[in-house]
This record gives sequence, C-alpha cells and structure tokens, in this order.
Amino acid sequence: MMRLDRWLVTLGVGSRSQVQKLIRQGAVTVNGLPVTDPSAACDTGAALTLHRQPLDGRLTRHVMLHKPAGLLTAARDKKQPTVMDLLPESYASIGCMPVGRLDKDTTGLLFLTTDGELNHRLLSPTRHVDKTYLAQVDGPLSEKEVAAFAEGLHLSDFDAKPALLEITGPASGRVTVQEGKFHQVKRMFSAVGREVTALHRESFGSLRLDPTLPEGQWRELTDEELRGLYADAQMEAP
Ligand code: URA
Repeated sequence: MMRLDRWLVTLGVGSRSQVQKLIRQGAVTVNGLPVTDPSAACDTGAALTLHRQPLDGRLTRHVMLHKPAGLLTAARDKKQPTVMDLLPESYASIGCMPVGRLDKDTTGLLFLTTDGELNHRLLSPTRHVDKTYLAQVDGPLSEKEVAAFAEGLHLSDFDAKPALLEITGPASGRVTVQEGKFHQVKRMFSAVGREVTALHRESFGSLRLDPTLPEGQWRELTDEELRGLYADAQMEAP
C-alpha cells in the first residue's frame, strides 16, 4: 500500500504539491472511483486514471534496450544524452536503472531494471555472469590471440581472467567474459596489440539481444527472460 500522492510523485506525474492539487480537483481515479484525498492508502496494483486517461501505475520494470552508439550509460548526465532518454520519463522516476555500463560507442544489449538487488547481484564478481561481445578489430586475429585470451591477460591495473575468444572473421571475434571492468574488452584486445574499432554486446547472462529489436528501441522482458536473469542472480523470481 502507498499514499496516493506519493505514488503519483514516484510515477513522475509532478511534485508533491502539484499532485495533491490534481487529486483534490478530482482529476484522479483509482479502480474507477474518484479519490480526492491525497493521503488515501492505495494498492499499487490498482488501475489509475489521470484526466480520464489511463495511467500506468506499475512501479516495477525490466527492460531490454538495443543501445545505439553515442549515448552514455548513466542515470543522468548534465551535458550528454544518456540511454534513459530513450525510455519514458516515468521509468527513471521509478528507479529503472542500467545494469552495468556499455561505453558510449558500444552498441547492443543493455538490461535495465527497478530491482536494485537483482542489479547488484548480476554485477557481483562472485556470480560469474557471462557477457558476450562481437568485436571488430584493426588487424587479423589468430590462434595466438585466442590462446592469450584463454590464459588471462595482464592489464595495467588488474589481471583479466581467462576469456573465450572465437574468431568470426578476418578481423573480428566473439569474446565471452565474466568480468565487467572499465573498457574491459577494449583493453584485453589492446594487450594483444589490437585496437577495437566496433563493439557490440550480444548477451548478458541468459539474456540475448532480441534480433528483431532495432537499434535505439526497447521492450519489456518476457516472463521467461526474466526468470532466466533471476536464476543467473541466484534469486527467486517475483
Ligand atoms: N568492454 C569494453 O571495452 N567496452 C564496453 O562497452 C563493454 C565491455
């Protein structure tokens, strides 16, 4: 249960005083009935309308986004556009946050959720969640690089754990890593003398980027996809 005014503020409808005014004016219905008391306790599964239009009151969201290049992975930034600009404003208001980061120029799968515990556990190094990337590089790849990745690479400030590199073309490879350090994949290639010219994430744990989802678009996860991620996090699905 939640106070009606607080619920509407959380949904990003307006400030506390703005939503209290709307409620007192009779602009809000809950389960079809006008409620004019801002402090009324509501079940947040109830149906809401605002000015006779349905208002989605859900406080839980789990989103798959096909990140385009050029956006920061951040909740907000003073100067630059972020992935949150692609979602309805209410998603940020209810705390739907990216799980991990992709660099500004990286494309592909980004998972965002309102479940802070799920977010935290999927990123925890103890959970060993696989992330798969397709990388274009500036020179040929051979068994030498595959072996170096398999052995684990010494980077300036940490040792990257063994990773799987599969050669997919003359200058491209699929990399599976379990860690998620800053610029991890680019730095691993750099350690074997290759520069990454394009990077695209295909999967995160059991979640795969929906091939029908165009760049810049997003959708809610299916129940099955969500169950998979909760299993990856060793949590019980809600
Ligand atoms: N590794 C990188 O170097 N960049 C990313 O965006 C993700 C993984």
